[in-house]
Parts: sequence; C-alpha cells; structure tokens
Amino acid sequence: MRWRVLFWVWLLLLAVGLAAAEPVKSRKGQSHGQSIAAGKALFMEHCASCHGDDAKGAGPAAISLKVQPPDLTALSARNHGKFRYDDVYKAIHGNQATAAHGSREMPTWGPAFLAMPGVDQAAADRRIRNLTDYIKAIQAK
Ligand code: HEC
Repeated sequence: MRWRVLFWVWLLLLAVGLAAAEPVKSRKGQSHGQSIAAGKALFMEHCASCHGDDAKGAGPAAISLKVQPPDLTALSARNHGKFRYDDVYKAIHGNQATAAHGSREMPTWGPAFLAMPGVDQAAADRRIRNLTDYIKAIQAK
C-alpha cells in the first residue's frame, strides 16, 4: 500500500515542480501566436486588475488610483493608426527615471518581473515582449 502514497507524493512534487519551472522555460523560437497567447496570460495575471480584462481601463483596482489606466486597445488610434512598439515596451518596462517622476501609478514591470523567483534578465525581457505583442494584437481597428 505504501508505494501508492509515495507515487501520489511523487506526482504532486512533479506537478509543483513543473508549475514552478514553466515561466522560466525558454521561449526561444516561439511563434508569434505563442507570444501573443503568453502575453495574454501574463496580462490577465498582472495587468487586468487595473487595466480590465478587456484592457479598456476599467479593472477593479482602477477606482483606487489617482491616475486612471488608459484604454490599451486605443494606443494605435491615439497615434494616427501606428503602433509604437518601443514606446509601449518602455512604458511596461519602466525605469528609475519615470519612477522618479512622482505620480507614476503604473508599476515598473522590468524590475518587478526580475524580482520574481527564477526570472532572469532574458525571461523578464521576453515577458515584456510577449505583453507588447499581445497589446499590439488587441488594437482597435
Ligand atoms: C496598479 C495598477 C496598474 C497595473 C497593475 C498595471 N498598470 Fe499599466 N498603467 C496604469 C496607469 C494608472 C497608467 C497611466 C500612466 C501612469 O499613471 O503611469 C498605465 C499605463 C500603461 C501603459 C502606457 C499607455 C500609454 O498611454 O502609453 C501601458 C502600455 C500599460 N500601462 C501596460 C500595462 C501592462 C502590460 C501591465 C501588466 C504587466 C500593466 N500595465 C499593469 C496602471 C496599472
């Protein structure tokens, strides 16, 4: 009987291990569709609370902010139909300079991802690229 218990313990540890390792797993060579899907999952996990599930700005946490989160599906529309990839990437990444400007409510995700266990520089950059790909994919036409 005891081997059964051991088997389940082993299975549980395996599942926990896989779950922990998943975000760190190399996404090199991922297709564009995969990066958008990964970006969407990250968005739902880290961004929807403020920006809303539909990214239009009405997340449940938005009420408590001094600055309201912008409609992220309207970034291209606000810029004559062009999606400024690098600007969006930088807005998500954030840096000391913008953080020091005071009223920034948006977390700086570069340092935040980097601070997560098992996330190195490359993995943090990839997350921000996936998020940017996702936001690009949901721009209103
Ligand atoms: C705590 C609430 C909050 C969370 C969580 C949050 N944001 Fe924001 N975000 C904001 C606010 C507020 C702004 C408006 C500018 C500012 O105050 O910094 C903003 C601005 C932005 C911008 C700039 C838009 C523009 O007008 O150029 C982008 C892009 C963005 N957020 C993406 C994200 C992504 C991607 C995530 C998740 C990784 C995220 N945000 C998580 C609150 C948040």
